[in-house]
Amino acid sequence: MSTAAQPETSAHRRDFFQHKIASVLAIAPLGVWTVWHLWSNLAAFGGASAWEEAVTGTRHPVTTLATMVVVLLPLGIHTLWGLKRLTTSRPNNDRYTFFGNLRYLLQRLSAVGVLLFLGAHIFLAFIKPRFLEGRPEPFADIAHEMRFHGPTLVVYLLGTLGVAYHLANGLQSFAMGWGLATTSRALKRVEAATFAFFALLLAMSWGAIYALHQAGV
Ligand code: HEM
Repeated sequence: MSTAAQPETSAHRRDFFQHKIASVLAIAPLGVWTVWHLWSNLAAFGGASAWEEAVTGTRHPVTTLATMVVVLLPLGIHTLWGLKRLTTSRPNNDRYTFFGNLRYLLQRLSAVGVLLFLGAHIFLAFIKPRFLEGRPEPFADIAHEMRFHGPTLVVYLLGTLGVAYHLANGLQSFAMGWGLATTSRALKRVEAATFAFFALLLAMSWGAIYALHQAGV
């Protein structure tokens, strides 16, 4: 009997640890880096040289490598876990219509949107300019695209909306998952903080997009 129960126990334990690792990586470094990246992009209000210094600046190859290890590796790990989770657990909105269930469904829908957006964004703004064209993305190029290429503008507006939702709502499930908010009062506070954080992330994202759009020639 104990031998039959053994494999299931270790599988549960493995799932538990994978969940905890993906959850921590999503907050730090991923969430922290996302906030910092959005903040840096607001330098677009200061024009080309301010933006290039803040976002793409001349970096040592070691710094570029460190960015890849600190940001892209955790993103890869979180994404692999996320894809597995999307296929192994299902939302139950057909049975329950509570606001929390809707948010859970949106968390997973936004994950798919974020995956597509980040795939395109990382390739077009990081890999292609740096590794195929031999220089970082110039301000003039991204500002021009934002102003004169409608699909780019729409993809950035929707992609960053997805990121803002996924990270802000994820912060709430993180707080619940790690037992940081257990009483109904604490949950209400976390919920209010989630809304404020979502609004802040969206304002930073769309603010930077607006500044790039305005600077496009
Ligand atoms: C900037 C990139 C991303 C950040 C900052 C981020 C952040 C988060 C956070 C904070 C959580 C909540 C963790 C918890 O409950 O403890 C989460 C959950 C999740 N993320 Fe991400 N994430 C990102 C990208 C992605 C991508 C590309 C996918 C692709 C599939 C993804 C899939 C998921 C899934 C499926 C969940 C769990 C939903 C559930 O509870 O079932 N995430 N994410």
